[in-house]
Amino acid sequence: MTTLFINACVRPESRTLILAQEVLKHLSGDIQEVKLAEENLLPFDNEMLLLKNELLLRGETQHSLFRYARQFAAADNILIAAPYWDLSFPALLKNYIESICVVGLTFAYDEEEKPYGMCTAKKLIYVTTAGGPIVSEHYGFGYIREVGRLFFQIPSIECFFAEGLDLKDANVDEIMDKAIEEIRTALG
Ligand SMILES: Cc1cc2nc3c(=O)[nH]c(=O)nc-3n(C[C@H](O)[C@H](O)[C@H](O)COP(=O)(O)O)c2cc1C
Repeated sequence: MTTLFINACVRPESRTLILAQEVLKHLSGDIQEVKLAEENLLPFDNEMLLLKNELLLRGETQHSLFRYARQFAAADNILIAAPYWDLSFPALLKNYIESICVVGLTFAYDEEEKPYGMCTAKKLIYVTTAGGPIVSEHYGFGYIREVGRLFFQIPSIECFFAEGLDLKDANVDEIMDKAIEEIRTALG
């Protein structure tokens, strides 16, 4: 079993990372971590799009441009840790999503032009922490859930979060303990 840990935490004292570490205690097997802040993940520009299309036309899926997609497709469990930034998550994570959405590697289209998943993962867990309240639509997790469901067809997708951590009078320890307890109850 391999767990792919996609770490979009930026701050060294990240509280999202604390929740991620709790989740990792409950997932067995090898952990492969991709620390997004240390990868050179650029948004796709025209040059990269042309290269991507050309490589796919030639069937060159072993090219390094597809290394994240290959790794994602092969993992048994996926854990994404991303702080709640500007109502969603850091742009680093969107750049990563752009790099793993590769037709023929992580998903494809059937004869009726409906996407179907090509990933091994049966479980995707998303963890986040927010300074204030997470708005009801939950744009961060909501987006990841839809990509995981519609493209990759990962059967189990869930989220653990702690919110209100930066509010005046917030009892940070209490909020974090509650989120950790929720993780233990769900995954223990
Ligand atoms: C760039 C940036 C954007 C943020 N945007 C929001 C926001 O839209 N809503 C919110 O409630 N908190 C926001 N916060 C606060 C963080 O969500 C909060 O501090 C979170 O716990 C940070 O996670 P970390 O401890 O893992 O770094 C933002 C923080 C930063 C640095």
